[in-house]
Amino acid sequence: MTHILFTKKGQIAIALIDRPKALNALNSEVLEDLNTLVDTVLADEEIRVLVLSGSGEKAFVAGADIGEMSDLTKAEGEAFGKKGNDVFRRIETLPIPVIAAVNGYALGGGCELSMACDIRICADTAVFGQPETGLGITPGFGGTQRLSRLVGPGMAKQLIYSAKNIKADEALRIGLVNAVYPQDELMPAAEKLAETIARNAPIAVRACKRAINEGLELPMDEAVQIEEELFGSCFETADQKEGMGAFLEKRRHEPYQNR
Ligand code: CAA
Repeated sequence: MTHILFTKKGQIAIALIDRPKALNALNSEVLEDLNTLVDTVLADEEIRVLVLSGSGEKAFVAGADIGEMSDLTKAEGEAFGKKGNDVFRRIETLPIPVIAAVNGYALGGGCELSMACDIRICADTAVFGQPETGLGITPGFGGTQRLSRLVGPGMAKQLIYSAKNIKADEALRIGLVNAVYPQDELMPAAEKLAETIARNAPIAVRACKRAINEGLELPMDEAVQIEEELFGSCFETADQKEGMGAFLEKRRHEPYQNR
């Protein structure tokens, strides 16, 4: 990967988008690297949580690359949108949880990338927004859909129609992020949250992600059936036996084995 710095710390993977000359803006190469990142994470059974952030102190991702987009035709624009949407959907449906640690500007495609993650936390310097209508386009990597699902259609429409950016405290107030940290405490907080998640039974955590994501698309009667099936499947795992056994024997459970 040319534009993603990838490291592993035990069961946690950390990926930093790294294209400093354009504030980590998403051009086709970065989108391809994101596909490779997904492949890398899928191939490594040890990884239980992925943390996604931007390299440097200024930007998470300052949007899709405006230089690359400026001369697109209608068909090319649609294809570029699909390229972004496809890889963001792969991130959203990764079996393991993904935490966006938003360390600065998260504009346009950057805000959209953070919204394809399961959990968003940010630095107090972070800025969010969908500036697209100010550039003559719509959001193109899922912003019209995920922002309205996350913060409700009224607030999403205000942000998208006005193209006005918001700061971290406002993002927290409207529920776009779960927590705000001083810049230098953001990555430690993201890693701590990732480690907390990684200590829980991984099959159960993955089942929760599927139940929430797939259930949200369905009427409640069908959604609860997904939960029932996944709940039942946990009783075939060694980790459930250990977790409940440890409780009943009044001891700490052994580290979960992902079995
Ligand atoms: N695409 C391409 N290059 C970008 C970029 C982007 N989205 N954002 C920043 N850059 C580049 C700048 O052109 C500049 O390059 P040069 O040094 O070669 O001139 C470099 O990054 C640094 O940026 P600035 O000098 O502008 O930095 P600043 O601190 O003055 O401003 C900023 C920071 C407010 C984030 C500003 O860069 C900005 O407004 N960027 C564009 C944000 C934007 O509109 N994003 C949405 C894009 S559309 C989209 O994402 C569509 C979609 O949904 C798929």
